[in-house]
Amino acid sequence: MTKQERKFPNTRMRRNRMQKFSRKLTSENALSANDIIWPVFIKEGKAIKQVIDAMPDVFCFSIDSLIKELENPIRLGLNAIALFPNIDSKLKDREGSQGIDPNNLICRAIKEIKNEFPSLGIICDVALDPFTDHGHDGVVRGGIVDNDLTLDKLNKQALIYAEAGCDIIAPSDMMDGRVGSIRNCLEKNNFKNTMIMSYAAKYSSSYYGPFRSAIGSEELIKPKDKKSYQLDFANSDEAMHEILIDINEGADMVMIKPGMPYLDIVSRAKETFNMPTFVYQVSGEYSMIMSAVEKGLANKRDIIFESMVCFKRAGADGIFTYFAPYLLNDLKKGI
Ligand code: PBG
Repeated sequence: MTKQERKFPNTRMRRNRMQKFSRKLTSENALSANDIIWPVFIKEGKAIKQVIDAMPDVFCFSIDSLIKELENPIRLGLNAIALFPNIDSKLKDREGSQGIDPNNLICRAIKEIKNEFPSLGIICDVALDPFTDHGHDGVVRGGIVDNDLTLDKLNKQALIYAEAGCDIIAPSDMMDGRVGSIRNCLEKNNFKNTMIMSYAAKYSSSYYGPFRSAIGSEELIKPKDKKSYQLDFANSDEAMHEILIDINEGADMVMIKPGMPYLDIVSRAKETFNMPTFVYQVSGEYSMIMSAVEKGLANKRDIIFESMVCFKRAGADGIFTYFAPYLLNDLKKGI
């Protein structure tokens, strides 16, 4: 079709847009419950549902409270959750030892949740930052995050999560070689069907601020940022290179993060690799949307759905979003 053939008034783009039914008929992308992954924060204790100041309407749950809280979203079609721990600062150390303790909060949560909801997919972040006192994703030596020493810890962390029943290991640490190293470790230990979703293109971003305060690792000590391991937001070719490497090392799924300012990366990744491609609408995006809603600058439902369908349009197969319970409720209403 050429432009000449589609001239006004033969073509009036507004005809299809005029009525709701024809807008629905011609819509190219949609969000369904299948696309939604709920990232949840957990902490030690009983019957806890703690407010997170930086993230309105997001809570940090004790395991028992989370199990109660999951009932409704699961009834509404929630497929998978991603677990993030808020570890007591007394248990954090330089080496992130809690991260490789088979009895840690995450391992206990996986077992208890699987026991209650066997068909719910469980995704676990693999990185040391919730467990280190300096807030970095790996072990620090002489002010530098040491890649190869970290790999050994990540293998152990992935293995204890797989042993506890985690379905998808999601390395978010951005060390070189970690996907291959974790894949080998899982194979060797007979976890042949444990999936790996690589945070393949994870950018060094200001949008992670509220998350870091939610897990109590907002203050990064020496180095003071994560630029030596997370991607530079100026780069797109480099992201494709990272994704290619992770696929070759054995990733089953790839993720791009943050989401909204990085739709070009999602779209390019999907077109280039045709892999199951995920996107993470991170904490800063969540809190920005919520502030706009609270200030009366946007309609809550409209702005949230727009952000979701735009992820789908860019090529995302699934979306990590803190709006998951809200979205599942709304999708059920069938608006
Ligand atoms: C930890 C991790 C981070 C996020 C997910 N996993 C923070 C970081 O890398 O500093 C951010 C998620 C969010 O902001 O919602 N490796």
